[in-house]
Amino acid sequence: MSESSAPNLPLDIATVKGFLDPLEGVALYQAAMDMSPLGLCVEIGSYCGKSTVYLGAACQKTGGTLVAIDHHRGSEENQPGEEYFDPDLDDGVGGMSSLTLFRDTIKRAGLEDTVVPVLASSAMAAKIITSDLAFVFIDGGHSLPAAMADYRNWGVRVMQGVYWPSMTSFPTPPTADAHRMTSINWRCIQAYLPTSRR
Ligand SMILES: C[S@@+](CC[C@H](N)C(=O)[O-])C[C@H]1O[C@@H](n2cnc3c(N)ncnc32)[C@H](O)[C@@H]1O
Repeated sequence: MSESSAPNLPLDIATVKGFLDPLEGVALYQAAMDMSPLGLCVEIGSYCGKSTVYLGAACQKTGGTLVAIDHHRGSEENQPGEEYFDPDLDDGVGGMSSLTLFRDTIKRAGLEDTVVPVLASSAMAAKIITSDLAFVFIDGGHSLPAAMADYRNWGVRVMQGVYWPSMTSFPTPPTADAHRMTSINWRCIQAYLPTSRR
């Protein structure tokens, strides 16, 4: 994946808080360009909307739709006192919320006609979104149980999946899940980076 294939994004992506490397964003954009004409795209874990902009911009271009799932209460590492807590997102009642900035990002990017925000946990959303999916990007909870729950809830009915590696140890699908996922193509997002950046 080269930086020269970077898309023209509808806003300056550096103005959006988040953790996505630009090269990884380009990978997401290209995957969504390929897959969104085939069906619904889903993102689990939007935070302030950085990955949503890459995925949503591609979906908008192809006429596709992106469902962006996040309870916007942050992952384990985003909580007050944890390493990746951002004081700008302090909700004033002991937690954090990325919802306001996420909505602002989607509006600024002109993606409100393409991105369907779902304010719910991944597990709850999986109960109501029951159709087959073209593409899923998993970047929600990074603990082993959270990551495995996302694999299990979303893995079986997606054509192509991309996941974010855990800061500790993101799982590869264990044997019990492997047979369920043989029909799909799951890749760690870092597989798209130049070797020197992995
Ligand atoms: C690492 S951040 C996502 C970063 C984002 N993709 C970006 O490009 O900046 C993880 C997000 O997942 C959300 N999250 C964590 N566990 C979740 C769950 N079980 N269901 C829904 N969202 C979850 C958090 O609220 C947080 O916003």
